Amino acid sequence: MRLHALTWPFLALTVAAEDGSKAWLRYAPVRCNRSCQKTLPSHITILNANKTSPIFTAAEELQDGLHGIAGKHVAITRGCNAPPSSILVATVSDYLVCNGTTVPDDVLSLDEDGFYLHTHGASATILGQNARGALYGAFEYLSLLAQGDFATLSNTSQTSNPHAPIRWVNQWDNMDGSIERGYAGPSIFFASGKIVDDLSRAREYARLLASVRINAIIVNNVNANATLLSAENMDGLARLADVMRSYGVAIGISLNFASPQTFGGLDTYDPLDESVIAWWENVTDELYARIPDLAGYLVKASSEGQPGPDAYNRTLAEGANLFARALQPHGGVLMFRAFVYDHHISEEHWKNDRANAAVDFFKPLDGKFEENVIVQIKYGPIDFQVREPVSPLFANLRKTNVAIELQVTQEYLGQQDHLVYLPPLWKTITDFDLRVDNASSPVRDIISGEHFSRPLGGWAAVVNVGTNTTWLGSHLALSNLYAYGRLAWDPTLDPETILDTWTRLTFSAHPRVLETVNTLSMTSWPAYENYTGNLGIQTLTDILYTHYGPNPASQDGNGWGQWMRADGDTIGMDRTVWNGTGFSGQYPAQVASVYEDLDTTPDDLLLWFHHVPYTYVLKSEKSVIQHFYDAHYAGAQAADAFVDQWDSLKPLVDKRRFEEIRRRFVYQAGHAVVWRDAVTSFYHNLSGIADQHDRVGHHPWRIEAEDMTLDGYVRYTVSPFETASRAFAVVTETNSTTGSASATVPFADGVYDLVVNYYDLYGGHSQWKVYLNEKLVGSWKGDMEDTLGHNPSIYIDGHSATRIRFRKVKVRTGDKVRIVGVPDGTEPAPLDYVAFLPRGIVD
Ligand code: GCU
Repeated sequence: MRLHALTWPFLALTVAAEDGSKAWLRYAPVRCNRSCQKTLPSHITILNANKTSPIFTAAEELQDGLHGIAGKHVAITRGCNAPPSSILVATVSDYLVCNGTTVPDDVLSLDEDGFYLHTHGASATILGQNARGALYGAFEYLSLLAQGDFATLSNTSQTSNPHAPIRWVNQWDNMDGSIERGYAGPSIFFASGKIVDDLSRAREYARLLASVRINAIIVNNVNANATLLSAENMDGLARLADVMRSYGVAIGISLNFASPQTFGGLDTYDPLDESVIAWWENVTDELYARIPDLAGYLVKASSEGQPGPDAYNRTLAEGANLFARALQPHGGVLMFRAFVYDHHISEEHWKNDRANAAVDFFKPLDGKFEENVIVQIKYGPIDFQVREPVSPLFANLRKTNVAIELQVTQEYLGQQDHLVYLPPLWKTITDFDLRVDNASSPVRDIISGEHFSRPLGGWAAVVNVGTNTTWLGSHLALSNLYAYGRLAWDPTLDPETILDTWTRLTFSAHPRVLETVNTLSMTSWPAYENYTGNLGIQTLTDILYTHYGPNPASQDGNGWGQWMRADGDTIGMDRTVWNGTGFSGQYPAQVASVYEDLDTTPDDLLLWFHHVPYTYVLKSEKSVIQHFYDAHYAGAQAADAFVDQWDSLKPLVDKRRFEEIRRRFVYQAGHAVVWRDAVTSFYHNLSGIADQHDRVGHHPWRIEAEDMTLDGYVRYTVSPFETASRAFAVVTETNSTTGSASATVPFADGVYDLVVNYYDLYGGHSQWKVYLNEKLVGSWKGDMEDTLGHNPSIYIDGHSATRIRFRKVKVRTGDKVRIVGVPDGTEPAPLDYVAFLPRGIVD
């Protein structure tokens, strides 16, 4: 844990209620004494800026920031003669015209979007290679100010250039306002098939993106709807582009490959057909007539049921080039997704492997794409899993521009109801050395275009913010969006340093806040991996339904190819060349040889590459199965500790955000136990191998609901079995009659945490009450679908399983515990068990 030297004196002065909508751009006051005030400018001077230019936006941001942070009102002036003690904001070229002076060489040679920030006392010069770069420089200045870093602020000289030209976000928003894999409410862009009238939230989003130097956004889902191309919607897109342009964020759109036929009235969408080519050229011209700086298109084709060039026996390159050529006269780029695979493959064939698909499809096409095509590649070969090896496609496209696709929205990683700070995961990919031609070739150098001397390349992340005031549904999840932008600008940054800056800006610079948020965040991904899928077996979420809670069996036995090939004795995908699917051979030789060999494959990817007995002994000297058991117990224990760690910040965080974050941690701690029990029971049952520590299947502090005296409740067999303790729960006899479950407490007199595991389904708000000797201990409602963001389930399963805990309850042997459940709608007040946990026990 790293603490910045100058944290203490610059605490946020107020602990006011906040709703999270300002994210890391709160401009909260910092203590600025008289000598600090002397370092602040008296004017903001801009050159040659109309009101829609990012330069003007920069001036307004500086004005707001200086006022909010340091309480100083500073006027904006225009023109070449900046008064003394000014912040001057301009493009390099305008500055040179005005001043007739020279600037340092590295300022003259800034890359596109780069900036120069020079301060001396109360004066500052912020120059951008373009207007967008100048805005980035202003945000850098404001970040220093907001962190109270007055020493740097009054004496710095830095030039900063982006790692790559493409730094985009993708939204998976649908025209009806829903968001695919979004966990923060409906779209801020679309409703009822149109672009919304009120774009104030879109403007705020552009502001956040610009502050972390994101330069473009794809606004609609990759599973695209062609009605976006109607004249009315094109006009709407133009309004949206206008709003985002003032922050230097260009918009682009996802296209549906079949649009000429499904929307345009042609009888074909063959990419080589003249009428189709003309149709797309016309659409593109129409769009550029309205949005001259449209960033380009994103296309998902021939994937997961989406139409593509294969329908006409054309190659993916022929499909991509259709759009690329239409974009060329306008300078737009085509992001073409490499996420192409057959989702109907048979597991019966040992050598079948979805992971092979991207290289199989795209490698033969290397060199056949137009120069303005960028192949957008998910970080791993499958689909945003908790741990995957690097997609080998990065090493196989030497004559094609590429970008990496990350996911800020936590589709498989807890859907923002579990804290998972993602940069450490991303780093395992972007820092990975693929050893192309036996030479250093980290992924970050490939995607920037540097390694293979490509003109274009970079980054895309699926973000999926919604109307929720916290943007992503959870305050802490925003660190991932912040860090994404910072890493896309400079992938050599350290995730902890980024996090510390984010924490200072989002909460405060109090050392305890910094340290706690750091500990929570840095332990979050390892904890999540521990209680979900280990050793490279993938996340083990229910891949056939919500992608949220546990359902290991859903990996196998279907055509989706996210297999783990688990049977009673063995587990893992054999992806070797000598005996398996051949996937490891898609890497350059030095990497391939590491993964080909069981002995050299790292433990954390062992089951990704090899099929082994559960008794196989890892480098850690544990067997695979014992590793599963131990990791799951360690992960749940870590998540449990998050609650107390967060609680220690109560006096230091404003009430609203404190409570909202706390609620999620409490939920996560409970759901981590659901995960732990489900996965360990599943493999225990499958392998028949006991846990050396005797924990799996033994829960001495629990009373199973089905073993209690039931009145109005009946026993219910849960599926999948492992998502209920001992496979059974109880539900009310009907959907309108109350149930009661009671039991005599067999435990010794003492103080316990009283825990109830129950199921909170979509479709009703059941109510429960728990009594001890008929005295009410607590009551609660099944309203998770309204208060949390994850995809709710209509079933009694691992997504709906959850728990509530009442701390420090005095209990005597022989007390009577009784739980009363009142069903609502289709939710029959389901109960799994009640537990009395002595201090320190997580069960
Ligand atoms: C995943 C995700 C889909 C999405 C797809 C994609 O499969 O579950 O919702 O459409 O990825 O990236 O295209």
